[in-house]
Amino acid sequence: MNWDLLLTDANIATMVAEGPAYGAIQDAALAIADGNIAWLGAAQDLPEANIAETRSLQGRWITPALIDCHTHLVFAGNRAQEFEQRLKGASYEEIARAGGGIMSTVNATRDASTGTLLSQTQARLQTLRAEGCATVEIKSGYGLNLESELRLLEVVRELERNAGISISSTFLGAHAIPTEFKNDSDGYIDLVCNEMMPAVVERELADAVDAYCETIAFSTAQIARVFESARACGLPVKLHADQLSDGGGAALAAEFSALSADHLEYTTDSGTDALAQAGTVAVLLPGAFLTLGETQVPPIEQLRDKRVPIAIATDCNPGTSPVCSLRTTMSLATSLFKLTPEECLAGATRNAATALGLEADRGTLETGKRADLAIWDIDHPQVLSYWIGTNELSELFVAGQPL
Ligand code: NIG
Ligand code: FE
Repeated sequence: MNWDLLLTDANIATMVAEGPAYGAIQDAALAIADGNIAWLGAAQDLPEANIAETRSLQGRWITPALIDCHTHLVFAGNRAQEFEQRLKGASYEEIARAGGGIMSTVNATRDASTGTLLSQTQARLQTLRAEGCATVEIKSGYGLNLESELRLLEVVRELERNAGISISSTFLGAHAIPTEFKNDSDGYIDLVCNEMMPAVVERELADAVDAYCETIAFSTAQIARVFESARACGLPVKLHADQLSDGGGAALAAEFSALSADHLEYTTDSGTDALAQAGTVAVLLPGAFLTLGETQVPPIEQLRDKRVPIAIATDCNPGTSPVCSLRTTMSLATSLFKLTPEECLAGATRNAATALGLEADRGTLETGKRADLAIWDIDHPQVLSYWIGTNELSELFVAGQPL
């Protein structure tokens, strides 16, 4: 055996689902070869190997690098003014119906130069990376016409080439009804299915397709058309489902074997049954719940009982979740949704990988998986969901390389 690097004097939270809490191995070592995990286990079981370099972690913890599986990082401007309006009593729906909301960010984004979009998104990515994220999902959805949606996805692919971390790109053309189609939402869905989707696929700009199922956005029938098109193009789907009302979004996502159904505040029993049946991940977004002052909590007990994998994500966006910290999101998930610290870490690693279809090579620490590692100056991984505003990250490895 030839190893490039051996990390010793470590504690490891593998985050594999079975076995001890956090998949913990104390007094452990982890070996990297060719960018992958070549071996890990208790130090006393270390086999003979040719080791190019050995480093002591002096008791630090290794976890899988964090994964933010739901963000809207590419946008221009902000919506601080609407934030203030909401605090004075206006609702998110009222602002959206009056032409604000998503459409106001669409206007700012269409007007911004590509250079501005690149640098502002890069800065947000850097913030996530600095606290341990090695994979980030980014959605389009603030372009809402052919040219602008393509430009946003091209920005995402450009960032992917230069960010040093992995990026998953999601086409969210069906995010809102653009002003140009105010009274013809079906006409806009035609455009999404017949023009945008083929162009996105031809340029290989997306890894998945998402949509927003809500009274202020699109109906289940309209989204079913978007998902049929995605399926015809071979792209997996995800859905913003049941955030502000129960629109049957979770069941629709499950019907299309979606990778994930996200938000889920108003999902009912039949919806969680459908998710469990389909193996669809429930992605919870406490930042949006907090910012919108929601009171209806997602059906956590049902998700747990039915063994639906739970992921958590920042939903970083200028409207409903001005939150650019997955660590803070983990803490919010404990306080707002009563997830345990272990569920939060699983939600930001193992289940987040599954929500992106990347579980074969990421999300847990196992031999053969990519060596995406976060190394922390902590005495227990529960600390990661406990502090708000601290950064205990000591080092981040992506595919075996320190960043
Ligand atoms: O995930 N729900 C729709 N999309 C975003 C909000 C985007 C916005 O308001 O700009 C969300 O909450
Ligand atoms: Fe979202």
